[in-house]
Amino acid sequence: MEKLVSSWSKNKPLPESYIFPPETRPGNLIVPTCKTIPVIDLCNAEGRNRTDIVQQILKASQEYGFFQVVNHGISENLMNESMDVFNELFEMPDEDKAILYSEDPKKSCRLLTSSLNYDREKVHQWRDNLRHPCHPLQDCIKHWPQKPIRYREVVAALSIEAKKLGLRILELVSEGLGLESGYFGDKLSEALHLFINHYPPCPDPSLTLGITKHCDPNLLTILHQGDVHGLQIFNNEEWIGVEPLPNAFVVNIGNQLQIISNNKLKSGEHRVVTNSRVARTTAAFFIAPSEDSIIEPAISLVGEASVYRAFEYKDFLLDYLSHMGNNEVVLGRFESQSLNNGTPVNAPPIQRSPKFELSRLDHGPDYPSRPKGTLE
Ligand code: OGA
Ligand code: NI
Repeated sequence: MEKLVSSWSKNKPLPESYIFPPETRPGNLIVPTCKTIPVIDLCNAEGRNRTDIVQQILKASQEYGFFQVVNHGISENLMNESMDVFNELFEMPDEDKAILYSEDPKKSCRLLTSSLNYDREKVHQWRDNLRHPCHPLQDCIKHWPQKPIRYREVVAALSIEAKKLGLRILELVSEGLGLESGYFGDKLSEALHLFINHYPPCPDPSLTLGITKHCDPNLLTILHQGDVHGLQIFNNEEWIGVEPLPNAFVVNIGNQLQIISNNKLKSGEHRVVTNSRVARTTAAFFIAPSEDSIIEPAISLVGEASVYRAFEYKDFLLDYLSHMGNNEVVLGRFESQSLNNGTPVNAPPIQRSPKFELSRLDHGPDYPSRPKGTLE
């Protein structure tokens, strides 16, 4: 418990263990506000503007791997209520948070801080995190927090809506890619995991990060980022801030969608910076394949060459976890050998730590910082 940033950080200076090296810390960098990711209005997606919406989604997913959606059908009331519940959760007294806090990777619902790798990482991230699966609802809801009292009811409603929205967007994506209707249904989008991230006000945002640069390993992410800045995406070698818009969700392409699209879409790299004024709370829904799904580029998108080989999703997750979210290295390990005379590109030997046994919940992005004593 004493590790949770929300429990110890008030009026304290930034500990050395949160200071990132100069090359990864944000510094006093001003990120461009004139450049933003596309905002797509889904209200016309079922009507005669559908082709236009499909094209907007495709273009944003190619250029940025990120876009925002408005008029998505999830009520303002549900968005506000759920954000209230998420904030309440992190404002609970320490004894209530202690019930949720756990260092046991086998626990399906748990509160932790920084990453699963807290004890081994060189630098900690300035965030607390509650994570749990949301599907199948009747199996997992009994493990969710009992406080705040509205948590289960509100989060169940939001997770059902988030999954529906995700499937709707995936249907538009499959149309844009020329894939059959329902391509991403069933096993490829079976799992749903929720991360609630909480970034308390930070004494020196120039030196630390809420989450370091990473791509999400799953298929598609739907993020409720509330009304506080903090999310940045890395595009054309520069960081762009993602403007919080009222009643919008941020959507990003995960690694599996990049792979299935044979690199036609890209999973955008992103990070989270902190601020010194207000706490920021966000909720990320990760739509993911079931662990035993076979992932490979869609045959109709392969053309001259398949960039990636076929693999089981759980093998990807294990590699993702052991490579600390280093996107190029992880994707390189799943590139098809034919492109490269039999040797996968960027394929260092696997050094799996026994800690990286896959448990039911390790489906979100994690491990941005490297373990102590390893080279960058
Ligand atoms: C994540 C993530 C962004 C945010 O949880 O993977 O990128 O703004 N979150 O909290
Ligand atoms: Ni992410």
